[in-house]
Amino acid sequence: MALLEVIDLSKSFGETVAVDDISFDVEEGEIFGLLGPNGAGKSTTVSILSGILTPSRGKVVLAGMDVVHSPLAAKAMIGVVPQEVALYDELSATENLSFFGRLHGLSGPRLRERISSMLETVGLGERAREPVKRYSGGMKRRLNLAIGLLHQPKILILDEPTVGIDPQGRVRILEVVRREAESASTTVLYTTHYMDEAESLCDRVAIMDRGQILVQGTVHDLKMQAGQKDVVKIAGSFPDEDFASTFSDIAGSKVGTVKAEEMLISVDDAKGALPLIIDRLTSRGASIRKVEVEEPTLETLFIHLTGKELRD
Ligand SMILES: Nc1ncnc2c1ncn2[C@@H]1O[C@H](COP(=O)(O)OP(=O)(O)O)[C@@H](O)[C@H]1O
Ligand SMILES: [Mg+2]
Repeated sequence: MALLEVIDLSKSFGETVAVDDISFDVEEGEIFGLLGPNGAGKSTTVSILSGILTPSRGKVVLAGMDVVHSPLAAKAMIGVVPQEVALYDELSATENLSFFGRLHGLSGPRLRERISSMLETVGLGERAREPVKRYSGGMKRRLNLAIGLLHQPKILILDEPTVGIDPQGRVRILEVVRREAESASTTVLYTTHYMDEAESLCDRVAIMDRGQILVQGTVHDLKMQAGQKDVVKIAGSFPDEDFASTFSDIAGSKVGTVKAEEMLISVDDAKGALPLIIDRLTSRGASIRKVEVEEPTLETLFIHLTGKELRD
């Protein structure tokens, strides 16, 4: 039995369907990625899993327990690192950890031991007594991660923990997550819109868009799937018109994002189709500066599935 089972889950806010009938399982000990662009429904899903929101429909089962019916028992097993950093700015890292540790029922020597161990893990030992308001964005995120891990949860849920921090801070957070999964065999659910992070970190992923899961599987299998298509990225300037049908006779073609200076087209065989693509574009008044064929990645798979890019 999987540690976490998400079954036919939906959540609406008025007319907005934020999560639309999704199902996935997370096995004990694995790192599972929930990927999708902004607005895909990742945070809403995380809030339901961690008992903050109740679903409109469907079920979440953690270690055999229904999260909606037994929120307290479930919460004890979950560590959450929310998208919005939740810290007391006037308090130090140690004081923040102490506060959140007590909420989870830790106290005395056990609490002190966990605090110093987590400060060490996230590399904040030396600045632990300073008020958090003096911390950089990356340090705050690391402290948030330490709080999520403090009570040794069975499953750690991280919601876009690397957004808005510098590359070094990002690497550091990924390292801690990886180490935690390996050495403490904590199960991890990781949401992100960075495909490269998911590729390097996750065992399995589900790709979400507009509340739905488009595909799920191991990173390897999904990359194989992505490899069956090519994505052509063209830089230049394009007339403001609809290109949707321009390449409809080219096998497997789909026009993705068209911006003022960039166009994405996915096709079965880029090499064969390139001359025709360039010819059609120039005859419609486009000027082309650069043409690239992208390597198959989760990012190109997402482009095939949605016609959109995931990145910011
Ligand atoms: N509390 C809320 N009230 C109304 N709409 C919401 C609320 N929370 C999220 N949404 C909407 O639900 C959709 C999914 O949002 P969210 O789960 O935050 O996506 P993600 O985390 O993938 O960016 C978006 O269209 C968002 O505007
Ligand atoms: Mg979000």
